[in-house]
Amino acid sequence: MAKNIGMLTGGGDAPGLNAVMRAVVKYGTKLGYTITGVEDSFNGLLETPRRVQGLTPVSCKGLLQLGGTFLGTTNHGDPFAFPDGSGHDADRSREVKRAMDELGLDGLIVLGGDGTQRIARKLMEVHGIKVIGVPKTIDNDLGATDLTFGFQSAVDCVADSLDRLHTTAESHDRVILLEVMGRNAGFIALHGGIAGGADAIVIPEIPWQADRLVAKIEERRAIGRPFSLFVVAEGAYPSSAPAPGTKLVPGSATQRVAEAILARLPKLDLRVTVLGHLQRGGSPVAFDRVLATRMGVGAIDLAEAGRWGELVCLRNGRIEGVPLAEAEENRVVDPDGELVRAARAVGVEFGG
Ligand code: F6P
Repeated sequence: MAKNIGMLTGGGDAPGLNAVMRAVVKYGTKLGYTITGVEDSFNGLLETPRRVQGLTPVSCKGLLQLGGTFLGTTNHGDPFAFPDGSGHDADRSREVKRAMDELGLDGLIVLGGDGTQRIARKLMEVHGIKVIGVPKTIDNDLGATDLTFGFQSAVDCVADSLDRLHTTAESHDRVILLEVMGRNAGFIALHGGIAGGADAIVIPEIPWQADRLVAKIEERRAIGRPFSLFVVAEGAYPSSAPAPGTKLVPGSATQRVAEAILARLPKLDLRVTVLGHLQRGGSPVAFDRVLATRMGVGAIDLAEAGRWGELVCLRNGRIEGVPLAEAEENRVVDPDGELVRAARAVGVEFGG
């Protein structure tokens, strides 16, 4: 039975990664597993000497509330297309298997988003490496799981930022646009915007029209509210243009909204704030610590049951395993869903 397990984090970090790993180590050790941490995603297995750490419950103390990932991470370490330093990519995936054999690792627990889970699945299919995936992204855009840890921490940060912007916007009679992350999904903007009382929430799933956003500003002015707060998701785009694709430039979606509004209201006192990585750094909120702990325990439960090739998920309130391939399916906000409807019901404008 596979009892020597490696564990790594890949892709961008998310609050709660350390809490997952703490749970894997605490529970795994209790069941007789030996857990080895691999540094900087798969890179720790590709370098000589190998960059790995033996993990114990004692070495994992203090991790529950710690943001980031203590093992380090990268989104430039695909072993199937590894940058060789001369501008080309090399397939070094076989070396992962070799390193695991050398270290006596029977399987890998891989914490990562869609890209990292795709690599994990390929390692399983091409080299027979046993993997269990734990989904991770603050964007909450993975179709396989109802929630990802880190999302709620990002949402809390957006809500807190809106609370702060509220007082200054109101003092100066300004319109402030807050750009938030989320790639091509508007979950962070939608949840954070509702929690922070945004007047408009602009998301990729509902392409925006400038006239509707301007009408919202004027409607508020007419009722004696000469300031407004808008949340703009980084992937948002106008109904008059095609979707931006996956290469998003921080600040550009919001700049576009700002320019369109100012073209119609040139005297408007408008400011743009790009929240950026503030919403990804720092400690996980209590909700994410609980979810992360459940997912770490779920990963060991899958290993115990021999269910390699599966991803730990939260579905209908329960932690379960689903085939790893499902980690690659993305999810977006339902523009006709209950949450958008609730926001509209309390007066939030979506621009479309
Ligand atoms: O997927 C998580 C995420 O934070 C997105 O919301 C954002 O678009 C992207 O990663 C930022 O990536 P990076 O940290 O590489 O700039």
